[in-house]
Amino acid sequence: MKVLVMNCCPVKNGATAEIVNIVAQCMNDIHEIKTICIDDYIVGFCKGCRICHNTAKCVQQDDVEVIIEQYDWADVIISVVPSYWADVPGQFKVFIDRCTPWCNTHEPHAKISSGKRGYVIALRTGPGMRECNRIIESVEHFYSHLEIARCDSKGLCSIEYKEAVQARKSEIVEFCGSILSDLEN
Ligand SMILES: Cc1cc2nc3c(=O)[nH]c(=O)nc-3n(C[C@H](O)[C@H](O)[C@H](O)COP(=O)(O)O)c2cc1C
Repeated sequence: MKVLVMNCCPVKNGATAEIVNIVAQCMNDIHEIKTICIDDYIVGFCKGCRICHNTAKCVQQDDVEVIIEQYDWADVIISVVPSYWADVPGQFKVFIDRCTPWCNTHEPHAKISSGKRGYVIALRTGPGMRECNRIIESVEHFYSHLEIARCDSKGLCSIEYKEAVQARKSEIVEFCGSILSDLEN
């Protein structure tokens, strides 16, 4: 299967990127992997004009469709998302807003190919899982409107810098193991 692992944080070499690398290594032997970072793309703010509600297309021309092409390529999407003020990072939220042409709540809407499976890994510095769950809920909400199946998620608390990720490697590898066994069934 084709697996897209997305760093949903603007930091290309931090804790989120470290988790993306571990996930990619875990899946690499069995599946075709692509990793991308939200910071590699130029995505303008949604202006709320709602033209896309009638046309299924945004009037802006930037990299949103390039990211959506990666989504379309993938059978499996794994979003790795840190907490920024108890929410998803702004750059990723701007991308979600700009996916309104693909949102299934209005007709016509654009569509990515069907049958995709979505997973989320949320991380944060603080100790409580509630904040991770909030982020997972946001991303799963987004998945559901693109008709990506909400398959499983993992929250990782008490991670600030990438140095803290190695100590959590076994948890991440275990989560990847459960994704791999999901994909076999
Ligand atoms: C702007 C900003 C806001 C953050 N807000 C929170 C927060 O509200 N709660 C929390 O637990 N961690 C927060 N963090 C910490 C990050 O979630 C954490 O450091 C994560 O590991 C960052 O991953 P990175 O190294 O890939 O940037 C924040 C970090 C930044 C840069």
